[in-house]
Amino acid sequence: MWTKESLRQLVEEKLRGYLFIVVSNREPYIHTFSGREIQCQVPASGLTVALDPVMQCCGGTWIAHGSGNADADVVDKKNKVMVPPQAPQYALRRIWLSKEDEDGYYYRFSNEALWPLCHIAYTAPFFEESAWNTYRKVNQLFADNVLDEVGDREAFVFVQDYHLALLPRMIKEGNASIKVAQFWHIPWPNPEAFRVCPWQEEILDGLLGNDLLGFHILYHCHNFLDTVDKTIEAKSDRERYEVTRGAKKTVVRSFPISVDFETISREAQSEKVAAEIDRLKGELGISDELIGLGLDRFDYTKGIPNRLRAIDQFFVKYPEWKGKVVFVQAGVPSRVHITAYKRINEEIESLVEEVNWKHAARYWKPVIFIDEHLSPLSLMALRRMAHFAVVSALHDGMNLVAKEFVASRFDEDGVLVLSPFTGASRELTDAVMVNPYATDHFAEAIRKAVEMPKEERQRRMRKMREVVSNNNIFKWAADIISELVKLDIGG
Ligand code: G6P
Repeated sequence: MWTKESLRQLVEEKLRGYLFIVVSNREPYIHTFSGREIQCQVPASGLTVALDPVMQCCGGTWIAHGSGNADADVVDKKNKVMVPPQAPQYALRRIWLSKEDEDGYYYRFSNEALWPLCHIAYTAPFFEESAWNTYRKVNQLFADNVLDEVGDREAFVFVQDYHLALLPRMIKEGNASIKVAQFWHIPWPNPEAFRVCPWQEEILDGLLGNDLLGFHILYHCHNFLDTVDKTIEAKSDRERYEVTRGAKKTVVRSFPISVDFETISREAQSEKVAAEIDRLKGELGISDELIGLGLDRFDYTKGIPNRLRAIDQFFVKYPEWKGKVVFVQAGVPSRVHITAYKRINEEIESLVEEVNWKHAARYWKPVIFIDEHLSPLSLMALRRMAHFAVVSALHDGMNLVAKEFVASRFDEDGVLVLSPFTGASRELTDAVMVNPYATDHFAEAIRKAVEMPKEERQRRMRKMREVVSNNNIFKWAADIISELVKLDIGG
């Protein structure tokens, strides 16, 4: 089983002498002002949840957009700050973007074009030339920072996600000796869906600047190879999972991302969490009701309205559970400048109100809604309190909320209700699987979770914990590094 220690050894052995650089849009630690005080927050992002423990273990530099209003106040001349703040392990180098650049690159192209393009969740992508131009410009800015950070050293640059599709080619053009890998954290759609993108060739060309390109599951690798075949001049090899464009070869592989199982499982057992459970229950007015939990970044891909409709249906069909089950829906609003996100926030709020109005009795109401940033401690307490958790994404690359829930349940209890449209469903086969679009089935799945006997809950949770514990985040990173080594890189 991979551990922090064995990963560290692998990195020391195989990447000796190489500078290790991670590049992403979202930074793992955000400094913000609260009044005049500076505080440090951890964002709601699967990407940063997964990569922070890897960086803490391997060291190196993480380059990302400095999005906090106090970020500039804590960096040195090279725009760097050591993190995590309590026990510094690696450098975070921040890139500054103007409001206009953030708007074009992050909001309009990454999140109004690429995000809906890659998630089949029935929200149409929106393409604008000016946004595309800004996306290119900001990718070049990231490339300039990477090239400056590397200098004339040997380096392995690990690029993250859809915000930086053009970066690998730009890095290679600036310095061909840098080894570049990229992990695509969201789904890759089929060619029919992808072909509506006016800049599909440029995006594929950018990605084929990578030496290694990773997706969560094989299905996304196949979709990617199909898209390459139908779109640009390149040779794809289905047996080796490789694409050759010009003289450049890119290896395409699946690496299911995960979480730091051991740390989460250990932290879940602390006395602080037990105290926080009591505090939260008091604050939320919960006594011995069974608790269902939804924990999301509020996004139209997460199937939150579908979930609320299923809860409604559950209480319609099984009124005997009224007053005995309560559903806590917590999360943070995200990407709020985008119309589709404003709409989903409104829809969620109005559905919560409707379901509560319909079923509430005396002091009990079916849904407790929390739409504020919660501390890691409160999030852990919620996961521990829950009798069942619901992950109902309409389409999701992996979904780490599901894996975090499993990792937190050292008591080997708790039911996971999971959408088959998440990458996580390929591994967590002992979850109660349900199609979030099928409201009646969904309501039945909730009933099953509520009524499941303890023995069965434990049997399923034990198996899921075994899976997440074996396929932990250190294995994910080790598999990627080992693949690079096979490509004759490093070592
Ligand atoms: C997904 C993406 C990440 C992103 C996260 C949070 O998990 O794959 O790249 O960081 O959502 O979204 P945000 O836009 O707030 O970074």
